[in-house]
Amino acid sequence: MRLRVLEDPAALAAAAAREFAARAAHAVRARGRFAVALAGGSTPKAAYELLATEHAGGVDWRRVHFFFGDERPVPPDHPDSNYRMAREALLSRVPAGSVHRMRGELPPGEAARRYEEELRGFFAGERVPRFDLILLGLGEDGHTASLFPHTEALDETTRLAAANPVPELGTTRITLTLPVINAARAVIFLVSGGGKAEALRAVLGGPAGGEDPRRYPAGLVRPGGEMLWLVDRPAAALLNGG
Ligand code: 6PG
Repeated sequence: MRLRVLEDPAALAAAAAREFAARAAHAVRARGRFAVALAGGSTPKAAYELLATEHAGGVDWRRVHFFFGDERPVPPDHPDSNYRMAREALLSRVPAGSVHRMRGELPPGEAARRYEEELRGFFAGERVPRFDLILLGLGEDGHTASLFPHTEALDETTRLAAANPVPELGTTRITLTLPVINAARAVIFLVSGGGKAEALRAVLGGPAGGEDPRRYPAGLVRPGGEMLWLVDRPAAALLNGG
């Protein structure tokens, strides 16, 4: 696991875009394609915009296949849609090989079932799909993707995508599950802002003695491949030397 502390959100976005572009180039050379799951929320948007502008010519976009780590139960043009954010920042501005959105407009259970089918179709022959890269964010409560503390999707060991009821939000989200996330060749967390400092400290510090690891779901992300934390200085404030 690597941790890089960047001075501010702009430096974080630039580092994230560079890491994405470098991995895309390597994967295309090595395997002829780059399969990536995008994070939602607000933090990644600046990095996506840099990919669509400064890195537009440096990536063989037609070999890049975009998936999503999670989605809210809203239509694709809704302001809360993770797909809409990514489409506006990046997907509408590069000639992607394919884009696989989670169908937030459907009942979450149906959306998750369809996404599972889409994953198994794209990653045909792989018992568990192995993404080249999964981008993740971190919530102030320690959630990642839509794996929220103590929610049922945390216990999923076979399905690839799940409808996950989130009582504190009063909604059900669609999310990749831990088996898929932990199968990735690389996971990069993007964490910005002092509001995340406590969650980041708790996640990186590991569960306190006897604490339920499901309290901070991001701490359950332990990919067999590489894990890189890109955090800005305010988010790192409670880390040693942060
Ligand atoms: C979502 C995201 C979620 C996000 C974190 C951090 O749908 O909200 O997938 O996991 O990454 O909540 O969100 P911010 O980047 O907006 O702080």
